[in-house]
Amino acid sequence: MVIVSMKELLIDAEKNGSAVGAFSVGNMEMVMGVINAAEETETPVILQIAEKRLMNSPLELMAPMMVNAAKEAKVKIAVHLDHGLTLDCIKKALSYGFTSVMLDCSLKPLPENIALTKEVVALAEKYSATVEAELGVVGGNEGDTEEHIITCTDPKVAKHFCKETGIDALAVAIGNAHGNYPVLPELRFDVLEEIYNQTDIPLVLHGGTGITDEMFRKAISLGIRKINIATASFDALTRFSQEYLNSSACAD
Ligand code: 13P
Repeated sequence: MVIVSMKELLIDAEKNGSAVGAFSVGNMEMVMGVINAAEETETPVILQIAEKRLMNSPLELMAPMMVNAAKEAKVKIAVHLDHGLTLDCIKKALSYGFTSVMLDCSLKPLPENIALTKEVVALAEKYSATVEAELGVVGGNEGDTEEHIITCTDPKVAKHFCKETGIDALAVAIGNAHGNYPVLPELRFDVLEEIYNQTDIPLVLHGGTGITDEMFRKAISLGIRKINIATASFDALTRFSQEYLNSSACAD
């Protein structure tokens, strides 16, 4: 199987009325885990890493591993830079062969978000790579970043933003948050429906850990085509490592 653009997977998902899982990784074992699970279930997925994680898992090491793992996989895999913070990192990810990038300017004023996102769209075009951007503020944090207060995406602004920037996918804020939810979140499906009606590109749900299957199904019915999962995988890795260290296999 060849490594594919994220756009190709999102178009397939649109046709099937489904969403693609995007799984964050931080080391070789996580990359292998995602690829093995994708192959076992014969399901295309997105392999991604956020810029904040690169201080512990450098792009120079992670990128070749992620891109090669995708190229060798038996199912379609896209490789994505999640929550890019700098144009420099976007450029590096594209040059390593990432097939998709996100510059997260959601905390910046709208005109700046639009201007920077347009630069990313122009850069990505040279590599036929996909571009995701975010509007509104998703709660919690990704990696070691500070906590953010949720601000729902404004559907009318979303329409304007998509038209101005030419992005391929839009991450929405509808009450979702990164990290473990202290209580089950109440997602604003009314806001999602309005965004879906105002825009015509695939929508992305960040903060997938802790969201129920029923909520996923509802979100997918309202245009969500990519679902990000990070905390559940990192927690599982920590839990299994701890169990292993406590087990008799580690006694000698
Ligand atoms: P979770 O850590 O809540 O699964 O969110 C992942 C995410 O949205 C990565 O961008």
